[in-house]
Amino acid sequence: MSATTPRTHRFANGLRRALTSRLAAALTYPHGVDRYLEQFAPTASLTEVRAEVVAIRHQTDDSVTLSLRPNGNWQGFRAGQYVRLTVEIDGVRRTRCYSPANSVHATDGLIELTAKTHAGGFVSKFLKQRLTVGTTVGLSQAEGRFALPDARPARVLLISGGSGITPVMAMLRTLTDEGFAGPISFLHYSNAAKDQIYAAELAGIAAMFPNLQLLRGYAEPNQGGELEGLFCRAHLNAVPDFADAEAFLCGPPGMMKAVQKLWADEGIGERLHLEHFSAAPAVLADSANAEGDVRFIRSERLAQNSGATLLDQAEAAGLKPESGCRMGICHACTCRKASGRVRDIRTGEISDAGEADIQICISVPVGTVTLDL
Ligand SMILES: Cc1cc2nc3c(=O)[nH]c(=O)nc-3n(C[C@H](O)[C@H](O)[C@H](O)COP(=O)(O)OP(=O)(O)OC[C@H]3O[C@@H](n4cnc5c(N)ncnc54)[C@H](O)[C@@H]3O)c2cc1C
Ligand code: FES
Repeated sequence: MSATTPRTHRFANGLRRALTSRLAAALTYPHGVDRYLEQFAPTASLTEVRAEVVAIRHQTDDSVTLSLRPNGNWQGFRAGQYVRLTVEIDGVRRTRCYSPANSVHATDGLIELTAKTHAGGFVSKFLKQRLTVGTTVGLSQAEGRFALPDARPARVLLISGGSGITPVMAMLRTLTDEGFAGPISFLHYSNAAKDQIYAAELAGIAAMFPNLQLLRGYAEPNQGGELEGLFCRAHLNAVPDFADAEAFLCGPPGMMKAVQKLWADEGIGERLHLEHFSAAPAVLADSANAEGDVRFIRSERLAQNSGATLLDQAEAAGLKPESGCRMGICHACTCRKASGRVRDIRTGEISDAGEADIQICISVPVGTVTLDL
């Protein structure tokens, strides 16, 4: 890596100021400076985080691991946080959340994302089957409160299932890079040994760090794990002081529910930190009984209410609102509702009709709704 001298730093700052000036904006109108910078380097941007895909590997049949080199706008992350990744698929930009799995101390400057492919999943299938090395992708800065605390806990318990391993893998790699000396227990669950993401890395880290207790469980029998079957209370017999640990959990909804219930029953719920990758809606979209219109005031468009979420309806109307998780977690889709009532599909609750900021990915109109979009 080349050293940055005060002179080159001043030059870079001066150049940035010039490129973000009103004059530069006027000279490059209507496309903006970024569009011209892209001609020289596809990841160049004054403000956006963009990254080049520099390597792709396939750890298992239904996962893909990407190494991304971000541009200089990337501000780094805390182990456990996620980014919103945007890719262009057949001319349409699609955004989903992924949790970097690398250590925050990695010296190669790369971000590592691992996605599990979902049958019928738009973005994960694209990443697995069609993304190529050299492609430029969009990223948000790191987001989310699920992260290792700055004051490292004395004892750490990591519990993950399937692709939920990614944020806790970042935590494990970060702690071992720091030479963390306290006890770490890692319970990881997969369907079968062949489906286990980061199998080799985990085994390698466990061999090097005697303070790591690695316990693997598999849903299928005879897979050679230390644990039998799905998560249950008996699995914690091997971790006798689990109640004293700060626990970090990410996995499929059923597993997360079981762990949450146990922690609540033990009266240690405040020691459990969790990240959801998916959320089942409590209320399904009801197109048969949908009434009224959706009015998008800024873009001057009007659509008949289809009963779908406002995010889906906005996209169907040709708009491109910001989005990320599409399930009420990341708040990227938050929009001003000027009037009308909406139902929250997670809870079934209906809002009042006044002005409010709403997450359009989990809001379904109840009658006519006007949005500042
Ligand atoms: C904070 C956060 C961090 C995340 N980090 C990761 C990560 O590191 N690695 C990773 O693989 N995924 C991660 N996800 C999930 C990821 O964002 C996508 O939801 C997932 O890749 C599916 O996207 P898709 O476009 O392929 O599927 P979509 O086209 O959005 O959905 C297709 C179908 O798959 C189902 N589906 C979508 N997501 C899931 C899921 N997670 N589990 C089961 N069914 C699902 C949907 O219900 C739908 O039926 C994270 C999600 C959040 C909110
Ligand atoms: S897209 Fe994440 S909250 Fe709506």
